Amino acid sequence: MIDIHCHILWGVDDGASDLEESVQMARVAVEEGIKTIVATPHFTNDLMVKIDVVRRKVQELQATLDELGIPLTLRAGNEIRLESADFVYRYAEQGTFGYLDAERRYVLVEEPWGGYLPESPDIVRWFVSRGTTPIITHPERHPFFRENPALLTALLELGAWTQVSADSLLGKNGDDAQAFAVQLLNEDRVHTLASDAHNIRRKPNLGEGFRRIREHAGDGKADAILERMSRI
Ligand SMILES: [Fe+2]
Repeated sequence: MIDIHCHILWGVDDGASDLEESVQMARVAVEEGIKTIVATPHFTNDLMVKIDVVRRKVQELQATLDELGIPLTLRAGNEIRLESADFVYRYAEQGTFGYLDAERRYVLVEEPWGGYLPESPDIVRWFVSRGTTPIITHPERHPFFRENPALLTALLELGAWTQVSADSLLGKNGDDAQAFAVQLLNEDRVHTLASDAHNIRRKPNLGEGFRRIREHAGDGKADAILERMSRI
């Protein structure tokens, strides 16, 4: 399994606090059956972890994991906050943030916590026209999507994917997030599942998330999500 959204790098954002915690998260991930993690530190106005920093930290952590014999492959990415369309276009042109893959076919984007960005459809169109599928992180955790699912539908119709968080399916992000995650699952709108792990309490629990999907929705849906993630 691949985890496409994880704050495993220490000392760059609100994820792992030190190298020891990064290593502990890696151990949990391996136990969960995760083989690859894309390290996706925040890229926001306040917490701008640039991709060159992400790459350097990934190399350092990978060297440590290799020394310790922990069989996990790390990749460098970012979780890009949709601060504004200008914010996204400017830093994309400058190559300041990272995509999920070297070919730039997928990128992780996050709506602001304060409210839906009205320019979001423009940004989705912009990425899609460049051959990139924007993946919207944890829509089930945003009240504006829960209250007005048409906002999300519009983005998906333009070509965006969703990333639902395992914690939401497991009920750890509250009843409302869990209910919306299950609704998305029933509607085949869970394109990818990720941990969004920040530490060993909010941990890389993808295995648990997929067990829940298999119980609730059957092997077919779980396998379809895994297949989609393997393309990334
Ligand atoms: Fe995140």
